[in-house]
Amino acid sequence: MRLGASRFVAGETLDTAVAAVRRLNEKGLAASVTLLGEYVSDQAHVERVVAEHEAIMRRLGHERLNANIGFKLTNVGLSINEALALENSDRLARLGESLSMGIRIDMEESFTVDATLRVYRALLSRGHRDVELALQSYLRRTEADLRALLPLHPKVRLVKGAYLETPDVAFPDKRDVDAAYLRLLELALGREAYVCVATHDDRLIDRALALALERAVPPTGFEFQMLYGIRQQRQVELARAGHRVLISVSFGPEWYPYLMRRLAERPANLFFFIGNYFRR
Ligand code: FDA
Repeated sequence: MRLGASRFVAGETLDTAVAAVRRLNEKGLAASVTLLGEYVSDQAHVERVVAEHEAIMRRLGHERLNANIGFKLTNVGLSINEALALENSDRLARLGESLSMGIRIDMEESFTVDATLRVYRALLSRGHRDVELALQSYLRRTEADLRALLPLHPKVRLVKGAYLETPDVAFPDKRDVDAAYLRLLELALGREAYVCVATHDDRLIDRALALALERAVPPTGFEFQMLYGIRQQRQVELARAGHRVLISVSFGPEWYPYLMRRLAERPANLFFFIGNYFRR
C-alpha cells in the first residue's frame, strides 16, 4: 500500500475508508464504498464477505455519512451460484432500505453479464428501487441490454469497461467504445433511466452536461461518478456547479488487482507508482 496504491485505494481497513468518505463529503461529494476482492468461491467466505458488507453499511449509516455501498456479484455468491448472489444482494438491499442507503452493483467480465442482469431484474421485481447497475459501453451487446432495461426505469451506471475482452464481444478500438458510450448516454439521459455518468473523460462529461441542458434534465435527474484519486479537481468543479457527484472509494487488503486495472488504463500512473516506490 505504501508503494503508491494509496492514491487510488483508501487503505486496507474500514477506518481508512470512512476517513476518506468524510473528506469527500466535506467537499460536497457523495461516496460509495467498495470492499475489494473478486471471485469468492467458498460458501463460508461468501458469508463472511456479506457480513463485512453489512458492517460497512451500518458503520456508514451510524456515522451519518453521505455514502452507500458498491459490490461485485462474484464477491457475494455468483461464483458459486446465481441464487446465492440474488439472496445476498436482496439481503444487502433490504439492509440498505432500513438505512436509507442504496446499493450499487458492478459489471464484471462478459461471461457474468447475463446472470448479473437476471439478478438485477429480480431485485427490481422484489420491489428494491435504489439499486444501481453498471453497464459497459465496450460490450457490443450493451445497447440492446440498455434498451431492454429502459421500461423498468433503471438506475444505470454507464462505464466504458475495465476488463480484457475479446473482439467478438467487445469493441477493440477505443473510438468505438467512446462512440458507444455516447449512444448509451443519448438513449438514456433524462429519459426512462436515472443515469450515472461514470467516466473521467472530459469529452463525455461535457456531452452529458450539454445533453442535460438540451433536455432540461434537472440536477437531481442524473449524476456524475468518478473513482477515488482520479480527476479530483474536476470532481469538485462539477459539485460546485451544482451537480450530483459520487466518488467510488475502494479499500481492503485485496487491492492489488484493482490497482493493476487502474495502471493498465493509464500507464502514466505507473510512473507515479514507481516514483513512490523509490521515494520510500
Ligand atoms: P478513459 O480511460 O478514456 O479516460 C479518460 C481520461 O480520464 C484520461 O485521458 C485521463 O485523463 C483520465 N483517466 C482515466 N483513467 C485514469 C486513471 N486510472 N488514472 C488517472 N487518470 C485517468 N468498469 C467496469 O468494467 N465495471 C464497473 O462496474 C465499473 N464501475 C466503475 C465505477 C465508476 C464510478 C467509474 C468512474 C468507473 C468504473 N469502471 C467500471 C471503470 C471504467 O470501466 C473505466 O475502466 C474507467 O473509468 C476509465 O475509463 P474512463 O471512462 O475514465 O475513460
